[in-house]
Order: sequence, then structure tokens, then C-alpha cells
Amino acid sequence: MKPAVFISGASKGIGLAAARKYYASGYRVGICARGEEALQLAKEEMPELVTFTCDMSEKAAVKNLARKINEEMGTLEVLVNNAGSYIPGSIHEEEDEAYEMMIRTNMDSAYYLTKGLLPAMKAAKKGAIVNIASIASLDAYPGGGSYSISKFALLGFSKNLRFEMKEFGIRVISVMPGAVLTNSWAAYDGPFDRLMPPEDIAEIIFTSTNLSNRTVVEDIVLRPQLGDL
Ligand SMILES: NC(=O)c1ccc[n+]([C@@H]2O[C@H](COP(=O)([O-])OP(=O)(O)OC[C@H]3O[C@@H](n4cnc5c(N)ncnc54)[C@H](OP(=O)(O)O)[C@@H]3O)[C@@H](O)[C@H]2O)c1
Repeated sequence: MKPAVFISGASKGIGLAAARKYYASGYRVGICARGEEALQLAKEEMPELVTFTCDMSEKAAVKNLARKINEEMGTLEVLVNNAGSYIPGSIHEEEDEAYEMMIRTNMDSAYYLTKGLLPAMKAAKKGAIVNIASIASLDAYPGGGSYSISKFALLGFSKNLRFEMKEFGIRVISVMPGAVLTNSWAAYDGPFDRLMPPEDIAEIIFTSTNLSNRTVVEDIVLRPQLGDL
């Protein structure tokens, strides 16, 4: 049977590039997003793709999604916690709602989805969980604000989960990209070739989950060749 991978927030950007990579490599691929239209386009491109509509910022919706993935996809070989949103801001000026929304979307979504899917993976005693953090998980930077808080939290989640999952044979990988050319950069008016292509991030996610199960790639930091923007 084909190994199964689920990628959250994958109708566009890094998630979609990762879905394409796993799909082309023979995996059974499941993805989710809020918008139906982009999910439908992805399915037209990859007919065997399994799609779910879900707002990952809603705890009840995420728990329900986990139930559906367990039913429709069975035990996952790979889970990629990718869903995230970025509202630039600064802690001392931004709206409370920006903080709450990014914690829910970028951190809580990974927490609840992982907890819903882990029992089957733990029973299988194998698999990999990739958390798409950010260079915003590592340092403060201008405009980071609550996005950076949420990504620091996600990195902390990833480190603790890796520690806990060792005995279950599940490898937990943190990926920290700098600027990647996706919709997140729609407002950017500089040269686009300064940004990394999403396919590069997809390639490293795929490779990190396809080494021998005696090796865990703990932390991956990727930056534009000419440095951060
Ligand atoms: N691009 C970068 O420079 C960069 C750098 C470092 C880290 N990252 C991280 O990489 C991940 C992917 O970013 P990206 O740039 O590829 O994003 P993107 O191009 O904006 O795509 C985001 C994807 O997630 C879905 N999504 C957004 N909010 C969602 C929600 N609440 N529930 C379910 N799905 C949701 C979107 O579909 P819908 O809108 O239809 O829901 C879309 O499919 C994020 O965690 C981001 O923080 C990005």
C-alpha cells in the first residue's frame, strides 16, 4: 500500500509544492485549506489527492479534521504541519486579535492535529512529523511581532515532541525557512528572484522524511542565498 502523507494548509505555496513532491514520488497525499477553489484546482492537477476543507484556526474543526484523516487515510507515514498565516506587526502596537489568530493558526493547529493523528502513528512505531516553523522561530526581527511568538512556540512544540517520540520511532523535524516566494509575499515590491522557490523547501522536507529510520534531521534552516530580506 502507498505510504500516506497529510500536509495542512497545502492548496498553495510551500504546502502545495510539498504535496506535488510526495504525490510524484508515489505517496497517497491528503491536504487541507479553507478555500474550496484552490483545493479543487489541486485535485484537478493530482486526481488521487485527498482534500479536506478546514479552518485550522478553529480547535473543534482541527479535531474533526483529525478524525476524518484517521478514517479516510488510515495511519500516516508523514504529517507536515504547514498551515500558517503572517500578519506583520509589533507586539506593542498590534491588535490583540492578530496575536490570538496567529497563535491559533500557527501553533494550536499543529498541536491539536498532531495529537489527533499520533495514536495511530505511535501504534505503528514509525513515521515522521515535520513542523514548518520559520527563521522567525530563531530571532526577533522588524515586523515579527506575534508571528515570531507563534513560530518560537511551534519550534518549542517540535523540540519537545521529538524528545517524547524517540521511544515510538517517530522522527520530528523542524524546518525554518527564510523568505520563500509564495502568496505570503504578495505585498513585496523587490526583486522576486531574491526569494527562495517553494520547490526547494518541498525538496528538503521530502528528503528529511526519506532517510533511514535510524536518523532524524532535527533542525533545517534555509535562507535566500543573498541573505534575509
Ligand atoms: N513564505 C515564506 O516566506 C515563509 C517563510 C517561513 C515560514 N513560512 C511558513 O510556511 C508555511 C506556509 O506558508 P506559505 O508562504 O506557503 O503560505 P501561502 O502561500 O500563503 O499558503 C498558505 C496555505 O495555507 C492555507 N491556510 C492559510 N490559513 C489557513 C487556515 N486557517 N486553515 C487552513 N488552511 C489555511 C491557505 O489556503 P486558504 O487561504 O484557502 O485557507 C494556503 O493553502 C506557513 O506556516 C508559514 O508561516 C513561510
